Amino acid sequence: MKIAVGCDHGGFVLKDAVISTLEELGAQVVDMGTYSTESVDYPVYGKKVADAVASGECDLGVVMCGTGIGISIAANKVKGIRAAVVTDEFMAEMTRRHNNANIIALGGRVITPEKAKSLVKAWYTAEFEGGRHQKRIDMITQIENEQK
Ligand code: RB5
Repeated sequence: MKIAVGCDHGGFVLKDAVISTLEELGAQVVDMGTYSTESVDYPVYGKKVADAVASGECDLGVVMCGTGIGISIAANKVKGIRAAVVTDEFMAEMTRRHNNANIIALGGRVITPEKAKSLVKAWYTAEFEGGRHQKRIDMITQIENEQK
């Protein structure tokens, strides 16, 4: 699995923990920045990761900002992206099992690096259940396709 990882300055505190966890799980990580705590704009990094996932260059993505919210909103503007902010293990697991979230978003001002490790593991190791959940995802895709 090839995983795109990106953050702004607010999410930077989590990035090393996220990358090492993904590598421990056997993933190949593509680090799309940012590379310091210098202030940057989260939409740039949300789009970079989302484009990599939507194009098929990467299988999945992890994005991080201060709350996880802004960068998830930006990522979700890219067609085909289902980015979910998660703050506990149940959300992390269920967003893969039911929403087939292809990106998770984490907040560097909300959770610790240790928590980020645990959330990434819960999401990455869960499996999409398909069935009635696929039908609902198809409905989301239909909404997306209706947009001008
Ligand atoms: C940056 O200060 C902050 O607004 C950003 O990291 C994020 O939390 C936005 O949702």
